Amino acid sequence: MCEKCKEKFFITTPLYYPSSRLHIGHAYCTVATDVMARYKRMRGADVIFLTGTDEHGQKIENKAREADVTPKQFVDGVVEAPKGVKDLWKLMNVSYDRFIRTTDESHLKTVQQVFRTMYDKGDIYKGYYEGLYCTPCEAFWTENQLKDGKCPDCGREVQPAREEAYFFRASKYADRVRKLLTETDFLEPKSRVNEMVNNFIDCEGGLQDLCVSRTSFSWGVPVDFDDKHVVYVWLDALFGYLSPLGYLNENGEDWKCFWPADVHFIGKEIVRFHAIYWPAFLMSMELPLPKKIYGHGWLNFNGDKMSKSKGNVVDPYLLAERYGVDALRFFMLRTFPFGSDGNFTNETLISCINVDLANDLGNLVSRTVAMVGKYFGGQLPLEQQEDEEKDDELITQACDLVHVYAEQMEKYAFQNALGEIFKVIGRANKYIDENEPWKLAKDEANKPRLARVLYNLLETVRICGGLLRPFMPAASAEIMKRIGAAEYDWDSLAFFGTLYRDAKVENGPALFPRIDAAKELEELEKLQAAQAAEATGNRQQATGNEATVGADAHIGPSEAEDAPLPEPLPEIAFDDFQKVEMTVVKVLACENVKKSEKLLKFQLDDGTGTPRQILSGIAKYYKPEELLGKTLVAVTNLAPRKMMGQLSCGMLLSAERGDKLRLLILDDAIPAGSRLC
Ligand code: ME8
Repeated sequence: MCEKCKEKFFITTPLYYPSSRLHIGHAYCTVATDVMARYKRMRGADVIFLTGTDEHGQKIENKAREADVTPKQFVDGVVEAPKGVKDLWKLMNVSYDRFIRTTDESHLKTVQQVFRTMYDKGDIYKGYYEGLYCTPCEAFWTENQLKDGKCPDCGREVQPAREEAYFFRASKYADRVRKLLTETDFLEPKSRVNEMVNNFIDCEGGLQDLCVSRTSFSWGVPVDFDDKHVVYVWLDALFGYLSPLGYLNENGEDWKCFWPADVHFIGKEIVRFHAIYWPAFLMSMELPLPKKIYGHGWLNFNGDKMSKSKGNVVDPYLLAERYGVDALRFFMLRTFPFGSDGNFTNETLISCINVDLANDLGNLVSRTVAMVGKYFGGQLPLEQQEDEEKDDELITQACDLVHVYAEQMEKYAFQNALGEIFKVIGRANKYIDENEPWKLAKDEANKPRLARVLYNLLETVRICGGLLRPFMPAASAEIMKRIGAAEYDWDSLAFFGTLYRDAKVENGPALFPRIDAAKELEELEKLQAAQAAEATGNRQQATGNEATVGADAHIGPSEAEDAPLPEPLPEIAFDDFQKVEMTVVKVLACENVKKSEKLLKFQLDDGTGTPRQILSGIAKYYKPEELLGKTLVAVTNLAPRKMMGQLSCGMLLSAERGDKLRLLILDDAIPAGSRLC
């Protein structure tokens, strides 16, 4: 395909504040963007993947002052230094094409011109910003934002104040923005639309004009016709999506073919700026609007928002060093639906590595390659039997995979795309058990059939391994190398049978070594506790096993009421709800699970006469003896699963918010075995 006809795809991450240390939550969005960019490149698109840093504003000016350096020296240190922003993207194998720093000269030019153009057409006007001012924080607040009448940031007194400022006439664009949000697919997930429209456009007083300049600090883009003002950081930063494409500066003319952006991936708390003000700014500049804003959820840690002061930020360096970058990238997108909040726990991370990567994927690759080695010296013979009817299911699933995968990827449903791959991996592992190659190998006459079985497995591995490439670039390349399919392209992934029949396979060490979960959890928690203690200025002592990150690691109160509300889930049909079997159960026995600080093991009377075992991660909320004899509710038709090597047959119902959790406890009037209705 000629360069001109190629699909153009422009995708961005937010421009990160150069805070001293980015954490796994920041890496989540950037890795997702990277996955999408790699996927589009794999499909032959001409991609620009933009990321960068948002470097102006009062907070940076203050931090620089505290560090006794200039703001520019401060941001240079964070962006370019070891373990700084760029270094983290290198660690996470992020393949960005452009990196914008809002302190780039060319960007300043764009912002100044935008400001002037909006001013010239009357969309920016001069007025006064009035509010309650906190002098130490140099911040204006409204009455509603105050906490107990004081500054919500530092808790000190605020004074009424008035500051000359420029305003953007957002009100002029309110109707067009409302239409954009309510009548198009501009903002996703859809669940975020109502909040924007009701709270900011259709609220009392309607969409307010936005203050877009400040005079109380100087670290920003100066308004070139009134230089005691600097441009508001959001106006400055949002045009950071356009300036690297050369818009209103001399960076080239890529904006002519790459704008509008296909999608801006952003976190849910900055949806307002992207879904309301950004389109309004672009309307004012008479530019096309981005095709999509996707507001992803947050990664919390053990149910709590990650925050440096709480000492519960998860360090990607630590995890990448222990489990490898590919496993970490995979875990984030496999475990959490992109549009909703996710709860990061060390247990889920290790279980995901053990179950999906070591057991399912790793085993499939190593068993297949090992059998080709053992039975055919590493190369299948050309003479292979034709497929049998019992091969059809695997072959059809593998052939269809690329289509169902692409359908999910185009919707940014990464978890589902990976789910589709793992269905096929599961089917392939079953195919091994069904065909028992070790038995076929015993009889020379079965060798052509054996060769076909192994070929079908290699082909399935090739398709799955190829489609995993955007998620786990290095592991995917290694898988392809091991099955002798180093050269492949997107089109070949839609066809079963493109691997040379006599491809040479290569053995190697375990792709994803199995982790001893109990030992590793203990070790990891110790390391994280040590990091937390360091981050919070040693306010908490890291004393090995006792000082775990989790509930114990919270510094200061974390009230349930202050915890973020969970994301609303999509509507389900009544029939789907009815599929969940909720049974009244009575606690016969309860004990802590050895070597686990989280798990309690229950023996429950569920009315069947045979005690039911359930493991529940509530040890930090209840002592086993408190629960003996209690009447609880359990979901009893969940597929059993192993936790710390023990089988759990169901799930106890509880409610959780912030640092509080309560089991659903009924009175004794309802006997065990009764069903909830
Ligand atoms: O908001 N889980 O920058 P920022 C998931 N400079 N995402 C998280 C997260 C978590 N725990 N913590 C933070 C800014 N993020 C502006 C953007 S764009 C023109 C300007 C995400 O460094 C957060 O949701 O505070 C946001 O999307 C991104 O990190 C950058 O946050």
